[in-house]
Amino acid sequence: MKSSTPVITIDGPSGAGKGTIAQMLALELNWNILDSGALYRTLAFLLHQENISLNQFAEKKEKIQKDFKVQFDPGVIGEPVRVIFNNIDITNKVRNEEIAKKTSMLAADPSIREFIRPCQREFMKHPGLIADGRDMGTVIFPDANLKIFLTASLEERAKRREQQLKRQGMEVNMRVLLEELEDRDQKDREREHSPLVAAKDSVELDTTNIKPEGVIKKIKALPFFN
Ligand code: C5P
Repeated sequence: MKSSTPVITIDGPSGAGKGTIAQMLALELNWNILDSGALYRTLAFLLHQENISLNQFAEKKEKIQKDFKVQFDPGVIGEPVRVIFNNIDITNKVRNEEIAKKTSMLAADPSIREFIRPCQREFMKHPGLIADGRDMGTVIFPDANLKIFLTASLEERAKRREQQLKRQGMEVNMRVLLEELEDRDQKDREREHSPLVAAKDSVELDTTNIKPEGVIKKIKALPFFN
């Protein structure tokens, strides 16, 4: 059954353009945005900061839950969606490759996914939600009104990630970046719990060589918008 709050899910591998497209749609429709990858990144950041290992997670879960207040600000096009954790902007602290690597390992754990699941559903609020991630259309919002699965070639995705990191003032080694991206995608695709896979009822769009405006145009041409 479709919920009364419309949901559009955007899933796909790293660098496929999910963040940019989710941001553009959220700004255009004036809907809420859920960057689920950033939720996992924030949890990885918090565990690292508090020196909590995965083994200690179960016993500290209640305390972590109290401290885990994440909000998103879609910001402006050309800049990443801002991540606000306990009222502090931690965007640059979580949007880096070191955290991405830790996050991918953490996100494979079922207790971590179980912890994040209800946090994600809380973002489904009037007038609508754009949810970006790996399992938005398959597991978290299976009844979403529109499911999009974005892909792009590995080279293109690495190039985009490089530009993104450089814009944030970070140094990037393209060879290492490419390897890390490939490794992360493989882990996300092959993990047992909520693997990265396109929902059967999703619309797949290959964004290689298409500018974000072109992708938006294709999305806006779908029956949901017409
Ligand atoms: O999208 P982003 O690169 O920020 O995601 C970081 C990592 O978080 C991914 O590589 C993936 O392992 C994990 N993730 C996930 N499920 C989601 C979103 C992200 O497992 N819905």
